[in-house]
Amino acid sequence: MGMFIVIEGIDGAGKSTQAKLLAKWFENIGYEVVLTKEPTDTDFGKLIRRLVLTGGREGIIDGAKISHEAEALLFAADRAEHVKKLIEPALKQGKVVISDRYFYSSLAYQWARGLDLEWLININSFAIRPDLTILLDLPVKESMKRIDGRKIKSEFDKITELQKRVRQNYLKLAEKFKEIRIVNALAPVEDIHNDIVALVEHELLGRAEKVS
Ligand code: TYD
Repeated sequence: MGMFIVIEGIDGAGKSTQAKLLAKWFENIGYEVVLTKEPTDTDFGKLIRRLVLTGGREGIIDGAKISHEAEALLFAADRAEHVKKLIEPALKQGKVVISDRYFYSSLAYQWARGLDLEWLININSFAIRPDLTILLDLPVKESMKRIDGRKIKSEFDKITELQKRVRQNYLKLAEKFKEIRIVNALAPVEDIHNDIVALVEHELLGRAEKVS
């Protein structure tokens, strides 16, 4: 079996940068890596982008003209395809899979939209648990500075409110799911990378001890 690592965090936390750096790190020490993300680049992911995320210029707030429940089920459907067609086969081939977002995003964001957490956990119960989930945590003020350029000004307050709820949700999820490790995402990129590598090495060491 390979190793499954997920990077989570609010928008602007630096997930894709860190996912890429971690993928390179693994490749340099000889592992085969599959770097992936959610929403995926498949037809399902594109459908979500069209219906939910870019439905209006509003994007992450009220772009969705569909119900929150339907939105959550679409994210889950995309994830089901992701798990069955890409993640599980890659892990069976002994590869390292690094995913930028996974079911924790659905829990943090769709819970923030007012859906029931237990229902969200249930509709995502097919999603195999990662070996390690890195939560890149940073204050919303900082994340808003970083994503400012990506969003329209009139949505700023609404987005800030949502991001605050999402951040709190992630921190609560870190208490519930033992595979989640919190990393301070305010630090310089290299320092964050080193923190993540230390956590990964710890996980690899734990495995080596189990085997021997
Ligand atoms: P993001 O990682 O920003 O994708 P991209 O930059 O490729 O468009 O994700 C888009 C948004 O979707 C982000 O605000 C979080 C949200 N999202 C959910 O609400 N639920 C989910 O299950 C996932 C995977 C993402």
